[in-house]
Amino acid sequence: MANKKANAARKALEFLEEGQIIGLGSGTTAAEFIRMLGEKAEAGFKIDACVPTSFDSRIHAIKYGLSRYLCDPDQVRGIAVAVDGADAVGQGYVVKGGGAALTREKVVAYNAAQFIVIADDSKLAKAGKVVVALECIKFSAPFVLKTLGKLGYDASIRVGTGKVGPIISDNNNFIVDAKIEIKNAANLEAMLNNIPGVLENGIFTKFDKIIIGDEKGAREL
Ligand code: 5RP
Repeated sequence: MANKKANAARKALEFLEEGQIIGLGSGTTAAEFIRMLGEKAEAGFKIDACVPTSFDSRIHAIKYGLSRYLCDPDQVRGIAVAVDGADAVGQGYVVKGGGAALTREKVVAYNAAQFIVIADDSKLAKAGKVVVALECIKFSAPFVLKTLGKLGYDASIRVGTGKVGPIISDNNNFIVDAKIEIKNAANLEAMLNNIPGVLENGIFTKFDKIIIGDEKGAREL
């Protein structure tokens, strides 16, 4: 699996140009990209700045020698390209948020001139329900669960390992996971964000490229 992720990440490097401001995604596939970007920078490739989408990607950027490029959105004039992983890749959409970083990921991805999704071939969505994450303010969580229930979705507050109770996002919020069969992704993305207290959801319908990695290499969808 690591090899498939690395192959997707390596392919994404081909689309970078020198002097760009780069959005760094979160998760294990994005971490492969950050590692390779660090190697490329070390070899002399010029980067203007990097905007991380989570503490996770920030930690990886520091680990792989990119700390001097790290910036927050208010320190850059824009983002040229964002590269990030996905939990599921469907027709016209990707689902993200397995690492609870969906809100910052979407802010960076949707504000980048180019958004490249990198995923291994196990992420190609099969028919049926997928888990869609919703970041919501804690106060709203009981109502969000009730609303999702009324819509017919099985939903629960995400709990993790290494901590009892709900996990807390980088933005200090709860994550609600809802099992949903995605039919009209764009409508669903907008509808879920209309639930009071929901900050963002993990359906992404705006991207420029999807790169799928397998054992042999990587291809653009
Ligand atoms: C984090 C994400 C990740 O990109 C997604 O979960 C994929 O992770 P991985 O590359 O580890 O499979 O959306 O919120």
